[in-house]
Amino acid sequence: PAIPVIAIDGPSASGKGTVAALVAKELGFHYLDSGAIYRVTALAAQRAGIALDDENALAELAGKLDVSFDNGEIWLDGTQVGEAVRTEESGNAASKIASLPRLRAALLAFQRSFRKAPGLVADGRDMGSVVFPDATLKIFLTASAEVRAERRYKQLMEKGMRANLSQILQDLQQRDARDSARSVAPLQKCADASLLDTDTLTIAAAVNEVLRRYQA
Ligand code: C5P
Repeated sequence: PAIPVIAIDGPSASGKGTVAALVAKELGFHYLDSGAIYRVTALAAQRAGIALDDENALAELAGKLDVSFDNGEIWLDGTQVGEAVRTEESGNAASKIASLPRLRAALLAFQRSFRKAPGLVADGRDMGSVVFPDATLKIFLTASAEVRAERRYKQLMEKGMRANLSQILQDLQQRDARDSARSVAPLQKCADASLLDTDTLTIAAAVNEVLRRYQA
């Protein structure tokens, strides 16, 4: 039998990363933060002086990336990247390169290599639609733009970073629009995904709901 996969897709700052990591922990599964792969690829491109719209050069770079994940830490070319991939600029750069079909294709095999026994929880935009179409459970996790902006704002403040709520809301809406409008693997709930709206849910409640649907 195929190794189980729980695919959790949704817009930025919906809480899917936090929920996915906790579900993985609860089940003893591996965890894939696919957004981090796009973020670290954008970082590698910036370091290599590759323009974020140079599709051929980006696809080639993505095909030979030296990236590894270790307990939430990301390593690129042998050094830890730290908070450099957690900023809003990084998310925006990731979203730019993520609209390029050849770049996405070049990252497919790497993402699929995370599917290992006893199972995987993967979060992103196209986990259920493209990367793991045969996933055991597909969740589309969302929340209103206002709630997501507020969560992101709090997160940044807690990290001691400077933040502006209305700017964050505007950036989120811009990024969602770009991720939803692109022709390849757009942000979209696929027909066999079940919706989970977290506007009024705590993280713990969202985690429990995913586990309940998985075990149902
Ligand atoms: O999830 P996160 O905000 O870290 O993702 C950063 C960007 O990477 C997203 O805005 C999206 O454009 C892109 N992405 C994607 N497909 C994924 C994961 C992320 O296109 N599976």
